[in-house]
Amino acid sequence: MQILQIISSARGAESYSTQLSQGIIDKLLVAHPGSSVVIRNLAQTPFPHLEEAHLQAYFTPAESRSAEQQQAVHHSDEAIAEILAADVLVIGVPFYNFSVTSSLKSWLDHLTRAGITFRYTPTGPEGLITGKKVYLAVASGGIYSTGPMQPYDFATPYLRHMLGFLGMTDVVVARAEGLKIPEFQATALQKGLDSVTV
Ligand SMILES: Cc1cc2nc3c(=O)[nH]c(=O)nc-3n(C[C@H](O)[C@H](O)[C@H](O)COP(=O)(O)O)c2cc1C
Repeated sequence: MQILQIISSARGAESYSTQLSQGIIDKLLVAHPGSSVVIRNLAQTPFPHLEEAHLQAYFTPAESRSAEQQQAVHHSDEAIAEILAADVLVIGVPFYNFSVTSSLKSWLDHLTRAGITFRYTPTGPEGLITGKKVYLAVASGGIYSTGPMQPYDFATPYLRHMLGFLGMTDVVVARAEGLKIPEFQATALQKGLDSVTV
């Protein structure tokens, strides 16, 4: 089995979303010995915001692209190839300002390509990245799985929708939450990890 780990926290080994991701990957490696892990670190090597060259490249046939357009499309092509090669994705999701980091958003923007990762049909859009299992390892200062802040979790509904739009509907959410609440901080990571069975 091939596991693709997406890191989007800039906090290195201190990052709770990365530690939770690692814990999930350790469980996967026990359940599926011999699996390999590919790491895409979006904090170390960010994907650029979509600029004019990217958009032009997407809508120009590969054989007609200029050198600049060929260069512009390589992030997208690489990200798509990595996902297609993977069986399982483990995505680290630091909760920033009620949503995802801009690095994760940018990666998703480069993945979303009409005719390649989704297409429009007479009955609606169809995702073309199928057969993947996705684990979201979400780290947040507050509590969003329940309670008064639940409606303000714009990260997991967005990710579920976006991944589903691309064809990835088998999504498990694990949360290390309450990390800024002294009463919950010490147990948050383990609780998130214990919630996941692989
Ligand atoms: C810029 C920034 C914005 C944040 N916004 C929120 C927020 O809206 N809600 C929340 O509960 N925690 C928020 N936090 C706390 C983070 O979710 C928390 O520190 C989490 O551990 C970050 O993930 P990481 O440890 O993987 O980097 C924010 C932290 C930063 C640095």
